Amino acid sequence: MVSNDIRTTFLNFFEKRGHAIVPSAPLVPENDPSVLFTTAGMQPLVPYLLGESHPSGTRIANVQKCVRTGDIEEVGDKTHDTFFEMLGNWSLGDYFKEDGITWSYGLLTSKEEGFGLDPKRLYITVFSGNTDAPRDEEAVAVWKKLGVPEHRIYYLEDNWWSPGESGPCGPDSEMFYDITPEGLGDLTHEEFIAADDTQQVVEIWNDVFMEYEKKDGKVIGKLAQKNVDTGAGLERLAMVLQGTDNIFDTDLFAPIMDVIRGKMTKDNKRAMRIVSDHIRTAVFLLADGVRPGNTDQGYILRRLLRRAVRYADMLGMDADGLSAVAEAAAIGYENVYQNVVEQKNMIVEEIRKEEEKFRSTLEQGMKEFEKILARSEKEISGNDAFVLFSTYGFPFDMTSELAEERGFLVDKKEFEKEMDEHRASSRTASEGKFKGGLAGTSEKTMALHTATHLLLAGLRNELGEDVHQAGSNITEERLRFDFTYPEKVERDILDRVESFVNGAITQDATVRMEEMGKGEAKAAGVEGSFWEKYPDTVRVYTIEGKEGAVYSRELCGGPHVEHTGDMGTFRIKKEESSSAGVRRIKAVLG
Ligand code: ALA
Repeated sequence: MVSNDIRTTFLNFFEKRGHAIVPSAPLVPENDPSVLFTTAGMQPLVPYLLGESHPSGTRIANVQKCVRTGDIEEVGDKTHDTFFEMLGNWSLGDYFKEDGITWSYGLLTSKEEGFGLDPKRLYITVFSGNTDAPRDEEAVAVWKKLGVPEHRIYYLEDNWWSPGESGPCGPDSEMFYDITPEGLGDLTHEEFIAADDTQQVVEIWNDVFMEYEKKDGKVIGKLAQKNVDTGAGLERLAMVLQGTDNIFDTDLFAPIMDVIRGKMTKDNKRAMRIVSDHIRTAVFLLADGVRPGNTDQGYILRRLLRRAVRYADMLGMDADGLSAVAEAAAIGYENVYQNVVEQKNMIVEEIRKEEEKFRSTLEQGMKEFEKILARSEKEISGNDAFVLFSTYGFPFDMTSELAEERGFLVDKKEFEKEMDEHRASSRTASEGKFKGGLAGTSEKTMALHTATHLLLAGLRNELGEDVHQAGSNITEERLRFDFTYPEKVERDILDRVESFVNGAITQDATVRMEEMGKGEAKAAGVEGSFWEKYPDTVRVYTIEGKEGAVYSRELCGGPHVEHTGDMGTFRIKKEESSSAGVRRIKAVLG
């Protein structure tokens, strides 16, 4: 079954069972400064798992783009990748274990409606219990009812899923599929673990029964509602359904691998897989607005691209090889992620520019690296690693990998200290530059960000206190703002909101940031959505006029302009529906 059909089979199955199909959220979380990327399908849904009501109801299904770089060193084996699509169905306080498990099993094994997988090749794991929650016998009872023999169900303590140190979490039940040609048959607990380690069985589905909450690393109790969070990796399902023993031979990667094969002069399977993975991830990050840089998301993108250049070199690919790889990666998503295909030329150009930039210092950097090795004993200092980064553009893990290949370590702690100092000084420099008025990219986006706060305050003035932010996306040119409101907002109201925003701008209002406890901020009536996702100490931005008039007071990670006077004139260009109960505004500063 081709990947397009896997997506639609999944969505149709759950649509028939009352699930609303929602589009993928962007890879860069819209309102969550606590993570760099969307790393699981559940992440954009955290507020709803915690109890906020979702505009589309209590049953949701989607295909969510995700990026995880925590396992970047594993990329090159059969199943690891840094970008993937996660198929998800959610119960937001609706059905629980019985339906969740029954439908997962039905979709995986049904020949008519699902994927028609062989039940004799399925293995199930469940939570073995600890002081936080009991052994999941409830889940086991459902599995047994479906006909799964008890000896193919394994209790594991690791079957617990949470997005991080805080948030909704719970025990999970995972489904594994035997991908060996002959079939492994029944396995003891130890044999099953070994088969997983050797990638003879592959995890293809995870049902998380999210009824608990975690705070600062500790499970603190039950949530008000019981949820189901499913994660089924498209790449792995494709591998199983297309009968390959690795994700790189599926239709999601094969066209990219073919281009590499045609361009390389030296064979190296791991390098081919790394190049195809990293370039594919870069394509998606660029399409979602990330640009190579030295901090945050931009740094991850840069790392991926530079790592890809190094592995492309190992394959003996010619200098423009990566552009062709990027093109193949983008084309594969025609009719799936239109923003990737539409921006193909920009994406290829950005990758080419970054490659060129890196190549200009790579050779010199390698010479410097050799000099450093010659004078080091077993460990490269953090300072040397920092020089390789700041002067020659070597991302830390590239230095670390190069060092490891030669039997050396790198002082990561010292490197990070140098990086922090470097970041602090470049921040001061850009703050200084800003005092002269709006100059570069970041100032424009900051101004649009500040305008977004004023816009929300203006909307709340006109439409009432039930209006909250539901999403936000800012580019250099415009802001896009989603907010909760049930119906069209008429132009005369939009005009009044516009005047409110422009009033604050002409007042040259001050933007002030203060840190306070979350409880204190809530009590003070600070506006905010997604409170749950913020740490205990939050940042509150207040936009205040000369006579002390408060235009806006909102929870936010920043950054913002310091004064509104240079922002320009605010204009609302468009108001439209975004999804049920959510409206969308596009606006500019001109
Ligand atoms: N959130 C779960 C996962 O990512 C389903 O595996």
